[in-house]
Amino acid sequence: MTDTILGGPSLPQQRNVVTAIPGPKSQALMARKSAAVASGVGVTLPVAVEAAGGGVLLDVDGNSLIDLGSGIAVTGVGNSAPRVVEAVKQQVERFTHTCFTVSPYEGYIAVAEKLNELVPGDFEKRSALFNSGAEAVENAIKIARHYTGKNAVVVFDHAYHGRTNLTMAMTAKNIPYKDGFGPFAPEIYRVPGSYPYRDGLSGAEAAERALSQIEKQVGQRNLAAIIIEPIQGEGGFIDPAPGFLPAIQRWANENGVVFILDEVQTGFVRTGDMFAAEHEGVVADLVTTAKGIAGGLPLSAVTGRAEIMDSAHSGGLGGTYTGNPIACAAALATIETYEAENLGERARQIGAIIRDFFTELQASDDRIGDVRGRGGMSAIELVESGSKTPNSALTGAIAKYAGDHGVLVLTCGTYGNVIRFLPPLSIGDELLREGLQVVADAIAQNA
Ligand SMILES: Cc1ncc(COP(=O)(O)O)c(C=O)c1O
Repeated sequence: MTDTILGGPSLPQQRNVVTAIPGPKSQALMARKSAAVASGVGVTLPVAVEAAGGGVLLDVDGNSLIDLGSGIAVTGVGNSAPRVVEAVKQQVERFTHTCFTVSPYEGYIAVAEKLNELVPGDFEKRSALFNSGAEAVENAIKIARHYTGKNAVVVFDHAYHGRTNLTMAMTAKNIPYKDGFGPFAPEIYRVPGSYPYRDGLSGAEAAERALSQIEKQVGQRNLAAIIIEPIQGEGGFIDPAPGFLPAIQRWANENGVVFILDEVQTGFVRTGDMFAAEHEGVVADLVTTAKGIAGGLPLSAVTGRAEIMDSAHSGGLGGTYTGNPIACAAALATIETYEAENLGERARQIGAIIRDFFTELQASDDRIGDVRGRGGMSAIELVESGSKTPNSALTGAIAKYAGDHGVLVLTCGTYGNVIRFLPPLSIGDELLREGLQVVADAIAQNA
């Protein structure tokens, strides 16, 4: 590593492939990885990063790649965003850690205040901070169970909530997330959600199907919480049919069930709104956030109704590193950046570019079965020509071709047939279009 190359927005915003991908230095590092790092920790693209910023990743061989993944929806403000770098530097020179539950500090309280203000809901709120998305989800479930005195939790088909023991149970897909890792936590019940491309149901019909199953198979008397992603992420960027989420929220409110929105992937202007559920005016009792919250530093949160959040006894929530002061400083700077740079509007522009690009391509290639998502969280679902049969082979080939040609794209979906676009919102139009064109070339190459 040289220390003269700095990341951030001043990094040249270009795609420039100067070696085979991966190049020799990346290959050497991947050999060290194989010898030192557990095999279960896989990598999407085997290139090692030297610096990153704007819409590019610079690798150790000098290749400049277009980043269409943002480290899985994290660096919405861009890597090493100036306000975040400055806030982190200032904080790291003051103190790095005390453990908030031992010796508290203002940064944590300020993040909680900001979240209480931003999360939808015209009622008094409280927040608690954690480290990862899975940890936030676990704590939301703990809090809902404590508040209601009930145990059952409803999750949905195609859901992803994390890789810890409880969240593995809540996650739908077996490989790679669950296979061989059981036994799983009890009292988790899975019901069908809304997948308009595949189920053809209206939001009201899909909600009726889910609620009827909940009533018959779980019973509201036993049900502590319903948790759902407003747009399902790892499951395939599935945007539920209009009316689905409001109907589920209404039923939960009427039946004494805590309604939890998992906004870990969708939150923080990624979809064009500060939180994705704002699109339909859905208001949750509890909201989990992480990823885009702190410009790349590990931080997560549960925010919600004061009476629910305050029901857990003192000492019941926390952890050594939860709400780390550096991560809190980064979060305040990140949220300031979203607001000051109007990145919600930028997310909507990015979404329009992606949607228009692939809708046009879809007209001449029916293997692009569906173009969906919102803002900087958009996707294409790939199928066999003339059918809706998932085409995971084509999906893998596109990701491989894109990587070889200097564009990092991520796949997802229960059937492994979705290419998802999660660019940093700091990416320029030209670079974004160039990245999309490489994906289009990849589709054409695999005719
Ligand atoms: C909706 C959702 N919930 C929870 C998680 C888990 O977050 P983490 O990987 O930070 O534990 C993710 C991660 O992708 C997610 O997309």
